[in-house]
Amino acid sequence: MNKGSVIGVIGAGAMGSGIAQVAAMAGHNVVLFDANSAAVEKAKTNLGNTLNKLAEKGKIANAAEIMARFEFASDITAFKNCSLVIEAIIENLDIKKKVFAEVEGVVSNHCVLATNTSSLSVTSIAAACKQAGRVIGLHFFNPAPLMALVEVIPAVQTEPSVTNTCKQLMADWGKIAVLAKDTPGFIVNRVARPFYGEALRIYEEGIADIATIDWAMTELAGFKMGPFTLTDYIGHDVNYVVTETVFQSFFYDPRYKPSFSQKRLLEAGWLGRKSGRGFYNYAEGAVQPEATKDESLGKAISERIIAMLINEAVDALHLNIASAKDLDLAMTKGVNYPKGLLQWCDEWGAEKCLMILDNLYAEYHEDRYRASVLLRKAARNKSSVMQ
Ligand SMILES: NC(=O)c1ccc[n+]([C@@H]2O[C@H](COP(=O)([O-])OP(=O)(O)OC[C@H]3O[C@@H](n4cnc5c(N)ncnc54)[C@H](O)[C@@H]3O)[C@@H](O)[C@H]2O)c1
Repeated sequence: MNKGSVIGVIGAGAMGSGIAQVAAMAGHNVVLFDANSAAVEKAKTNLGNTLNKLAEKGKIANAAEIMARFEFASDITAFKNCSLVIEAIIENLDIKKKVFAEVEGVVSNHCVLATNTSSLSVTSIAAACKQAGRVIGLHFFNPAPLMALVEVIPAVQTEPSVTNTCKQLMADWGKIAVLAKDTPGFIVNRVARPFYGEALRIYEEGIADIATIDWAMTELAGFKMGPFTLTDYIGHDVNYVVTETVFQSFFYDPRYKPSFSQKRLLEAGWLGRKSGRGFYNYAEGAVQPEATKDESLGKAISERIIAMLINEAVDALHLNIASAKDLDLAMTKGVNYPKGLLQWCDEWGAEKCLMILDNLYAEYHEDRYRASVLLRKAARNKSSVMQ
């Protein structure tokens, strides 16, 4: 695919308009369609404003030239000449399947069809198409123009040539493409679960309060935001639903079990920053809780969460979800972790990580704390998990 290839984007919401911007800035003509004409109008206004701002800052030469590459469509027949159509509509399998079948009826036999789904099976979506081999997952992160990572997820049916074309295209768009197996949460939304889940568990057990856990994860462990600040920022409606979906999709593996504290926040409508209250209170003048700043408690908390994260990454490597390089790239570029988790494992030594997990397992007798067999092997051989 080259710059002359027309890119279609279906769904003009947060992700669709961001992806459309990325494609247009990379030089493509872009067709943007949404079932809701108001969403298309809104995207048109927002894209115009964003491009003008980028031009003012000197980041692009000509906003009008890029804006002229867009066709804001009111009908899916506008995708007729597209070489690639990326779907970014509502996260609902039945609706996505229906839309893929409709789009397939409009485009040529050579057109690649991609889904930006965060949590659905790409294979299920592909199964709705006559030419399932042309369907693939391209999972961008929010906001798409700023986040470098794209997870490329071939379905069981995807032709290898389609995967290669998409990987190359993402590189041409200035993105960092990582290849992920079509399993729940792909890389980032799977491996990151303990960042939230184990922090919530520590809080629920009363080991530490939210401010102390956030302090431990930022000040001691080097993460940009602590788990409670971050989930308040993401929104508990979004973060809780991803956790619940991943938990169900993994046949209720206790490693991904959601938390009641977060569920109750959701039920109360305390969605985080956007609703003015989540774990923290965002009302003007609200008194914020202070961290205890007990170094040994903080170390124990951060090491417990990091050990759980490392274990997820090591297990994903063990199960061939992605390569070691892609696993570390995904967590540093997709969610800004201070370092790759496999690199972290090597720096600690697999023995240290295994000891933390085995101590937790001995204490709790819960499957949640089972160590990956690859971690156990690396600890026994005193070797890198990446060998
Ligand atoms: N928001 C994120 O952080 C994020 C990150 C990565 C992936 N995703 C995934 O991207 C997709 C879109 O998410 P979003 O946050 O942009 O949602 P959004 O609600 O902002 O936008 C979705 C758009 O799709 C349109 N739409 C719904 N049904 C449609 C249909 N049948 N045909 C055409 N348009 C239709 C809606 O009108 C809406 O404008 C979802 O699959 C989501 O899981 C979201």
